[in-house]
Formats: sequence, C-alpha cells, structure tokens
Amino acid sequence: FKLDGKPMTIISGAVHYFRMPREYWRDRLMKMKACGLNTIETYVPWNLHEPIPGKYNFTGDLDLVHFILLAHKLEFYVLLRPGPYICSEWEFGGLPSWLLRDPKMKVRTMYPPYIAAVTKYFNYLLPFVKPLQYQYGGPIIAFQLDNEYGSYFKDADYLPYLKEFLQNKGIIELLFISDSIEGLRQQTIPGVLKTVNFKRMENHFTDLSNMQPDAPLMVMEFWTGWFDWWGEKHHILTVQEFGETLNEIFSQGGSVNFYMFFGGTNFGFMNGAYKDGTGFHADITSYDYDALIAENGDLTEKYFKAKQIIEHYFPGTTDQKSNILPLTPRVSYGSVPISQSISLWNGLAAIPSQVETESPVCMEMLDINSDAGQSYGYILYQAEVQLPSYEKFIEIGGVQNIYDRGILFGDNIIIARVKNSMTTKPKIPVDGKEKIKVSILVENGGRTNWQDFDDQRKGINGFISANNEPVKNWKISPLEMDEKYIRALSKSSWTSVEQSCDSLSSPMFYKAEVTCRSSPMDTYLDMSSWGKGVVFVNGRNLGRYWSIGPQQTLFLPGPWLHKGANEIIIFEETKCIWYISYRNTKSFAS
Ligand SMILES: *[C@@H]1O[C@H](CO)[C@@H](O)[C@H](O)[C@H]1NC(C)=O
Repeated sequence: FKLDGKPMTIISGAVHYFRMPREYWRDRLMKMKACGLNTIETYVPWNLHEPIPGKYNFTGDLDLVHFILLAHKLEFYVLLRPGPYICSEWEFGGLPSWLLRDPKMKVRTMYPPYIAAVTKYFNYLLPFVKPLQYQYGGPIIAFQLDNEYGSYFKDADYLPYLKEFLQNKGIIELLFISDSIEGLRQQTIPGVLKTVNFKRMENHFTDLSNMQPDAPLMVMEFWTGWFDWWGEKHHILTVQEFGETLNEIFSQGGSVNFYMFFGGTNFGFMNGAYKDGTGFHADITSYDYDALIAENGDLTEKYFKAKQIIEHYFPGTTDQKSNILPLTPRVSYGSVPISQSISLWNGLAAIPSQVETESPVCMEMLDINSDAGQSYGYILYQAEVQLPSYEKFIEIGGVQNIYDRGILFGDNIIIARVKNSMTTKPKIPVDGKEKIKVSILVENGGRTNWQDFDDQRKGINGFISANNEPVKNWKISPLEMDEKYIRALSKSSWTSVEQSCDSLSSPMFYKAEVTCRSSPMDTYLDMSSWGKGVVFVNGRNLGRYWSIGPQQTLFLPGPWLHKGANEIIIFEETKCIWYISYRNTKSFAS
C-alpha cells in the first residue's frame, strides 16, 4: 500500500468494541500496539446500534466514535467494516431482526424496503465517521462494503449501490471487499480493492494477484483460530501453523488483518448460528477464537509468536520493553449458595405485556417495542385444549414450526423437549381430563449469520395441532429477559430454595449474591454442573451456558461487578442447583 506516497504494510488486528466492556478498550489496544500493529479493524453491528427502527444507540459500550478516537490517540490507523451485514458469528450477521417484520424481506439485495432501512441507518452512522477519515485528519484509512458478499451474491447491483452511496455521503478513503477467492471471482467493482480471507496460504496470494495484478496483496481475515458451537469440540489453530502462515504472508509482501486479534465474548443473546446438512448449530458465548489475546485479556503463546515474526520483518515496530502484563489478574469468589428461586410461571408476572392471538405468531411479528417486535430471548405460547373425556393422551403436531428449541408442557409439567428436526409427535397424557393447558417455551438460539438468511423468524412460525386439530387462541408471553425485565423480576416475590429435588418440573430463575470486598476483578462463573440457561449479573446478560459444552465457564468482567453485594440471577431450564461457583480460569470440555 501507499499512504501519503510512502510505502506501507498494513499490520492490523480485528478487535470488536462490542465484545468487551468499554473499560477494557484501552488495555486490549495497548497490547496490540506492543505487538507491533499499526492498524486496528472493527465491524459495526447494526442490530445493537438501532435496536428499534429509528432509535439509535452510540453510547457507553457502543460509543464507536470514542473507540475510534482512542485508537487514533494510540497512533493506530483504522479499517472500518460498517456492514450493513457483518457475519462475525453475530446474531443475524448484525442485521436487526425487525427487518423480518416485512414478510417479503430480502436482506442484502436491492429490495426497496431493505435499502430504505440501510439508507436511514447509514444516514445516521456515516456523519459520525466521515470526519474521522485519514484525509480529514482522522485514523480511518479504508472502509469495507458489506461482507463476503460474493459468497452470497443474490443481487449484482447491491455492492455497486453501496459503493456509490458511501461516496455520496462523503466517504473518500479506500473502499474494499473481502471474501474467499471463489467469492472474489463473483464480481469486480471498479475502484474497489479485493482482499482475501484464509487460514492457510495455499495459492491465495497468487490467485489474488492474478485477479488484480497491480494492487497490493492483503489478507483481510487471516483466521487465527476458529469459533465454537454448542455440542462440538473446541477449535484451535496451533501456534506453529499460525506462525508458518504469518511468515508466508510477510515474505510474499502481503498486508494482514489478524481475525481475530482479540475475540472477546458474545454477551447477551448476541451469538450467531449456522445451518448445514446436519441441522441448526448455535455458536457459544465465548468468542475467544483461540486468538492472540485470550477472551480474558491474557497474552497467549500465539501473541508472542506474532510479535517475534513482526519484529523480524519490521524491525523496531514491536515494543521490546513493554510494561503490559501478560496475564490479567483474576479471582475466584468461591462457592456461593443459591438463596432464592422463582418458577417460570411466577416469573411471567414481570413481563410488561402479553399478546393474545388466534394462531401462534413468531416473535418478530408481535406488536411490542414500538415497531421492533421481539428480537431475542425466549417466548412462551399457551393455549387451552378441550378434550373428549375418553382421551388418554393428545398428540402434538407442528413441532417443525418451532425455532429453535422448545419445551412442551401439559398443565405446567414438562412433557418433552422439542425441536423442528423432530420426526415424532410428542404425546401429552391427559387421562380423561376435560381440558388441558398446552404450553411451549421456545428459545431463539441465535439467528444464523452465514449464507441462509431467508428463514430466520423465531418462536413458533406456523401452526401447532393437538390430535390433528390446529390449536387456537394462544396467549403469548415475550420473555425477552432484557435488563428491564430482570430488574422487575428481581423485585417479584421469590421463595427460599428447597434443597430436595431430582429434576425441575418447570424452568426456574435462581438468585444468589456475591459480595466483593475490594475493587472487583475478573472472574469466571463455573457452569459445569448446571444444565441449560442464561446468567444475569446486576441485570446484565452474560450469555448462555449449556452442559453439552464445549464451554463450561462464563467470563464475568470485573467492571460489571461492584464493591458490596452483587446480584446473580440464573435462568435454568432443567436442573435443581443450590450453589454457584467461581473459578479463576477458563474451562473447555475436551
Ligand atoms: C445503549 O447501549 C449501552 C451499551 O449497551 C447501554 O448501556 C445503554 O443502556 C443503551 N442506551 C439506551 C438508551 O438503550
């Protein structure tokens, strides 16, 4: 590359401000600086910045401008990837779920209502970043158009449109796309640089320079590890393989963006998912990625390998007498008893509004949250079924309409766990009763962030039948489990925990308190003896846990605790538990 006429190799690291508390931005960036990086790269997640149409949030942990200015202060250049789609193993690839309220929505195309939503959002976002461009004295040297569009490619007009739109809004720096080599072959847009994504070098740079002979070579996503999903082993990339590829990148004169340099955490319900021939797979809460800086801020062996290689090719760029700590101090708060619980049924009272409909409706279509519907969390559907008195059981049909997992109840007792790939019809015993309450609690496990975007509506999207008759007149309870709900729930009437149960008859909220004496430090919640659920600390959603692993612990950043008593609320679907433990190390099941 050339910047101001001078040759430059971009040595960049991906770091997402939205995957860590703001309090850690400086720490992570300083560590990247010490490794010899001259640039940082971040995506911008539309779904967090515009949670409700027209209601924007760029404050606190979402203060993008502050993050970019901090990078500037630390003398980094910035690569900005504003989407609209960002993939990134993020909920719906960063698209807001309210787009799906349009039954004909075609995201990432020229479909006019999609383009209208993008236009409104970019009209809000771009004026913030325009003055931060390099030629205006800021750090941003380049912008990406959408993300890996060639691997999706539903509309040849889409990227050219985004290019023109950004330029019309005053974006004057370099524009680029990034993709696999196959993806890059789909489309050439004059004036837009192609960059490639890979884990191993293979022929990627040769292919890229054949495609684009006079342009600089860059790997925009040099995958330093990989993400994990529930029920699969933990993925890693060995330090040796990593080092070999990095050497090849530099020896062939390439620029690099380490994806990720620091991965962080999918706090809240923000994990993405993917679908393949074997079904739906939700990504785990940790986004450690086996990256150079671990989820908890520790410098890894891979970090020091990279530093050594960078110093070799670019002597004097790394900080040799760095005073940053390789390990972040952490603490275990021991084992804390669970003091109180409240059942799912009693927890419903804290929901601000319930909705009645004739047939089940997916969460996005609920008329709540202004024009946003329900975006995330769980959703409960309840209906009464009248029965002829001779029935012994009823057979529930329509489970293929459940997204993504459900628990089926008969008169508030757990009958079966259901999901849309199930081929049998669950049966509820009724033994001569005249009516029975059928309830289905559905978890939105995370919208897919890759390839298959067209059917992403969550909850129940279709009919449910009892003995082949569609069940009518549903009461729907949106269990968003947002901060407001958790605060209201906290004030509900809780009961002392009974220490005598084998399995839960209904999902439970549990409450515990952890007292921090001095200034709180990072810790891990050890969820290895729990079943499946979500943890909230002082109202904040730390993310999901699940006994199927590989993740066993949840990272709890110190800045989210305070001196004195801290409230932990855990939503648990299956198990009776009487204590919550802390650890000072992360754990993955092998
Ligand atoms: C904006 O986002 C921040 C960070 O997630 C959050 O703390 C804050 O409450 C949000 N503001 C509004 C008005 O929702």
